[in-house]
Amino acid sequence: MNHFLDLHKTDPAALRGIIDHARAMKDARVGRTRGAADDEQPLAGRMVALIFEKPSTRTRVSFDVGVRQMGGQTMVLSGNDMQLGHGETIADTARVLSRYVDLIMIRTFDESVLIEMAEYADVPVINGLTDRTHPCQIMADVMTYEEHRGPIAGKKVVWCGDGNNVCASFLHASAQFGFEMVFTGPVQLEPEPEFVGLARKAGRKVIIERDARKAVEGADLIVTDTWVSMHDSQSSRERRHNMLRPYQVNAELMSHAKPDALFMHCLPAHRGEEATSEVMDGSNSVVFDEAENRLHAQKAVMRWCLGV
Ligand code: CP
Ligand code: NVA
Repeated sequence: MNHFLDLHKTDPAALRGIIDHARAMKDARVGRTRGAADDEQPLAGRMVALIFEKPSTRTRVSFDVGVRQMGGQTMVLSGNDMQLGHGETIADTARVLSRYVDLIMIRTFDESVLIEMAEYADVPVINGLTDRTHPCQIMADVMTYEEHRGPIAGKKVVWCGDGNNVCASFLHASAQFGFEMVFTGPVQLEPEPEFVGLARKAGRKVIIERDARKAVEGADLIVTDTWVSMHDSQSSRERRHNMLRPYQVNAELMSHAKPDALFMHCLPAHRGEEATSEVMDGSNSVVFDEAENRLHAQKAVMRWCLGV
């Protein structure tokens, strides 16, 4: 049994195996309707709990559909409706759920909830996003990059804007998949030193560059995300917008990157804020391929967790 908590906690060979498996499973579904079953049914007889303490479109739907395609069943639970949100401990919740389900995916606020859930559950636990990281997203992103451009190792990935949870998992991925990272954004919103240090310790080049145009020079991939994440206070909105405006990904900024540089965004996007529609819908954008690949990547993650 394997938990999937963060990319730096998972062996690089296992991560590579998951991506290759996801690709093969995606290829095997070509021409099928979305609800059609896979030929293989590795989750037959398995029940998966999907717990959400924050909103979600992609994570919720892609996990649910993925489990069903593999023959399993799902239960989508909102944190608020559970006793978890009303005083029951995480440890007790984990022990109880382990008596009913075979796998737990949780999206929560503080990462300590995820860690405690994994500590006390007898079944695998998957990180569906916390305030600090979002590993499933970056598995889909690496898969998407490689589908379009081949191996990501050695490439230059530029993160524009807020050094948030998605950025953190990109830094973990830089360590594990061997690419270079540049962060461009305001000093107040830099990624945590722990994440930068981890990538550097693995021998990766990580550059912090205040000037967005300089940062994207020679970029193979440009990535951004919302300026106000779900865990950020709404009162910080105006301050964040003011700080982040120079880091908007627009056609002018893209023109300083390599001509074939890809553009990614985990979505949901706030068009006209962190990225313009011209870029989101432009020929270098792969944002909807990323969204689709959440499905395939997570199916492979679940199979790895369960060893099936
Ligand atoms: N990218 C992502 O995780 O989207 P949702 O918040 O819709 O799940
Ligand atoms: N950084 C965003 C990602 C959403 C998928 C958030 O945490 O709200």
